[in-house]
Amino acid sequence: MSADVGTRVETLLEKMTLAQKIGQMVQAERQVIGPEEVKAWHIGSVLSGGGSCPGENTLRDWVEMNDAYWAASMQEDDEHLAIPIIYGIDAVHGNNNVRGATVFPHNIGLGATRDPDLLERIAGVTAKEVLATGVDWTFAPTLAVARDYRWGRTYESYSEDPAVVCSYSGRFVRGLQGDLGTDGVVACVKHWVGDGGTQYGIEQGDTRVSEAELRDRHMAPYVPAIGAGALSVMVSFNSWNGDKCHGHKYLVTDVLKRELGFLGCVISDWDGIDYLSDSYFEATALGVNAGIDMFMISEQWKSFVEHLSAHVSRGTVAMERIDDAVRRILRMKLAFGLFEKPRPAERYWSVHDSYGSREHREVAREAVRKSLVLLKNEGALLPLSKDQRILVAGKNADNRGHQCGGFTVAWQGTSGNEFVEGGTSIWEGIRAVAPGAVMSSDGSGKDADPDLHDVAIVVIGEKPYAEGMGDLRTGDDDVVKAGSQIHGSLKVLEPYGGTTVLSELHPEDLETITAIASKEVPVVTVMVSGRPLVTNLELDASTAFVAAWLPGSEGQGVADVLLGDHPFTGRLSFSWPQRPGTPGSLGDAEGEPRFPFGYGL
Ligand code: GLC
Repeated sequence: MSADVGTRVETLLEKMTLAQKIGQMVQAERQVIGPEEVKAWHIGSVLSGGGSCPGENTLRDWVEMNDAYWAASMQEDDEHLAIPIIYGIDAVHGNNNVRGATVFPHNIGLGATRDPDLLERIAGVTAKEVLATGVDWTFAPTLAVARDYRWGRTYESYSEDPAVVCSYSGRFVRGLQGDLGTDGVVACVKHWVGDGGTQYGIEQGDTRVSEAELRDRHMAPYVPAIGAGALSVMVSFNSWNGDKCHGHKYLVTDVLKRELGFLGCVISDWDGIDYLSDSYFEATALGVNAGIDMFMISEQWKSFVEHLSAHVSRGTVAMERIDDAVRRILRMKLAFGLFEKPRPAERYWSVHDSYGSREHREVAREAVRKSLVLLKNEGALLPLSKDQRILVAGKNADNRGHQCGGFTVAWQGTSGNEFVEGGTSIWEGIRAVAPGAVMSSDGSGKDADPDLHDVAIVVIGEKPYAEGMGDLRTGDDDVVKAGSQIHGSLKVLEPYGGTTVLSELHPEDLETITAIASKEVPVVTVMVSGRPLVTNLELDASTAFVAAWLPGSEGQGVADVLLGDHPFTGRLSFSWPQRPGTPGSLGDAEGEPRFPFGYGL
């Protein structure tokens, strides 16, 4: 932070009333606040939750919305100081909420590329596609080091190995923020801290590890991110040994702010303080006093303002804490040059025609190619040749929604091709280069015929999910146990399924593979999923097997490699399990993995 920023922060802070200070500490969801309230309550930030889009979700709709919020925040009068609003969004694999965006592979696939330079380029493209909508702040990158693939957010993690995450974190922050000029957006590294270590893979659960393990495994990636100048950090819903991070003064203030020297803004997660106490009044003080600076609130932001004002007048929240929070928020806005920026409608990248462009999509296509991991290739079946007679089958073969996964247009993702505008499904990518390729009539492969087909490509795996709705859990014993350990409440969503064995989770996949293999047509299986799963039966029934993760909109990248234009270079960034339970190579108790971390043919 430059000295100039420091001076400007102090000058502004001195002019601010308590109401204006507390208003800056609020980030309200766009559906519960309009521009006039942003001005009247001096609100510091507005956000879009997953899938919360203005109008028809076009670039112009986004820029118009941001322009209105910005203009309101800048209308100075006796009551209101001109402090520009900052708008936040989950652009976690491209500007994924918005129609026509370039959708990149989710982090688990990027972990398999082992290519930090590529990560920085992806971040740079993502920043421009976020700026095209007039938005300044993305809640990315996730720095979780996921340790149990039952967790619904495994795909948001680059790797089970902190070293891989560390090699990416600073680079991605630099790619997003650039030189903090017109081409960058504010990064928000998340979730502080230990989200990936949640016991049993329960989203928002309890991370029961020693402080040494918390530091070496889960805090480590934040050091290069802070070194790269990340301007914000988001606190985790998780608890550490029973104590919620949102109320954890030691983790937020003593470690993150003091020991690691983080000078930017610490923001809560979505209503994250609500789970600290049954009383929102009490939760407000707990969250503020823990050291959180800005509060992401989906509805009750007016109560938050009233409660915090009451705490300050009672002295249960000190004025110094308020000033620290507002100082950090102003620092983030000033360091980012927000005060110098013109209104969103007049900014260089707003509605820019590079959005969703071929050039941007080529970066995503390269990422898809480099993310593919070849797990089996009997008789060197792969690469295929373009003039082979290829039968394509499987529920994920022609489904851009499924290949993008969660956090795409909608919070829980979409199904079919219509909602992901632009890009190619895996089938569309194959058809574009292999004239002899045909789609199985009903996708089931029953029409396989060795006289007509030389080889089959069967695209299997998971359907989209996000957060707790992606958890895999047999029954609720683990949840009850985790809940009993946590001081506060645990929000549990309907899990994705009750098993980590693919043939039980999605039996249709093995059926399709065997329907074709039994006709003596060799099968190349491509698995589209947010995580490794137990796939012994599918592997044994396939001649070749490729982990494709969640490739995003540019399915063409899969054909580029299957058909030999590019080699397989991906390496597992997660151990692949042999049986239910966490694979041994994670360093935890369970058995040997089917394929270890780092594997790839
Ligand atoms: C969600 C996620 C967080 C996201 C935020 C806003 O619950 O935990 O990663 O940035 O809310 O959508």
